[in-house]
Amino acid sequence: MKVVILDDAANVAKYGAGIFLDQLAKKPDSVFGLATGSTPLSLYRELIDSNHRGEVSFAGVKTFNLDEYMDLAPEHPQSYRHFMNREFFDHIDINPDNTRVPPGDAANPLVACREYEAAIRDAGGIDIQLLGIGRNGHIGFNEPTSCLSSRTRVKTLTRETIEDNARFFREGEFQPQLSITMGIGTIMEARLVVLLATGRSKAKAIRAMVEGPVSAWCPASALQMHPATVVIVDEDAASELTDPAFFKHIEAQNQALLARLQGQA
Ligand code: PGA
Repeated sequence: MKVVILDDAANVAKYGAGIFLDQLAKKPDSVFGLATGSTPLSLYRELIDSNHRGEVSFAGVKTFNLDEYMDLAPEHPQSYRHFMNREFFDHIDINPDNTRVPPGDAANPLVACREYEAAIRDAGGIDIQLLGIGRNGHIGFNEPTSCLSSRTRVKTLTRETIEDNARFFREGEFQPQLSITMGIGTIMEARLVVLLATGRSKAKAIRAMVEGPVSAWCPASALQMHPATVVIVDEDAASELTDPAFFKHIEAQNQALLARLQGQA
């Protein structure tokens, strides 16, 4: 697990966006796994700006979102499909048919979950999976106690997650208690995982994820077993790590090595 600690949320978004832009330059028909929530919004804005400046195109890209609320139709303003259209897809040159979000309103959710997995496989697998992290260590809606090799499935939300997300719902509005989420096993198959976290409220989860133990109680800790995960955090989210200075030292060494190798090219 590579941990990159940056001064603030703006730099976290820029660094994360840079990884996506580099990937697009190498492979214009990349497959991206995407996330909702507040954290990735600035990264999406970086990618939108880059697209508007004509530096990058999403015309060949396919996307798969991590999760969706059960029992919300795609056009429902609280659905994650609606969120993705509003915050990202409507502003870039992506083909909307190439964007997938688990269908929260599927007549048979169990079949829909199997189809979602098949669609990811048919697309050739995910090149980069973007993740946020819940205060409870969830990734996607894989809540604590999730099986670490789970696949896309229906998942019950914890009280903590429902409370954390209540801020997006109006008083008295229906708030789903179930979700469809990619499993941890699904996420672990992405070739590269990029996890962003900012703010002090994420510090405990970041520590549990990075320092372990690997445990279903902190689903994100499964990423310790993933061969290519980059965790990008601001100082606040890194504030409970035992030795943040070591991660900064590693990153400085990596940058120096990169500069040396580029000098040789
Ligand atoms: P947030 O959500 O980005 O809104 O903090 C992250 C998550 O719950 O995975």
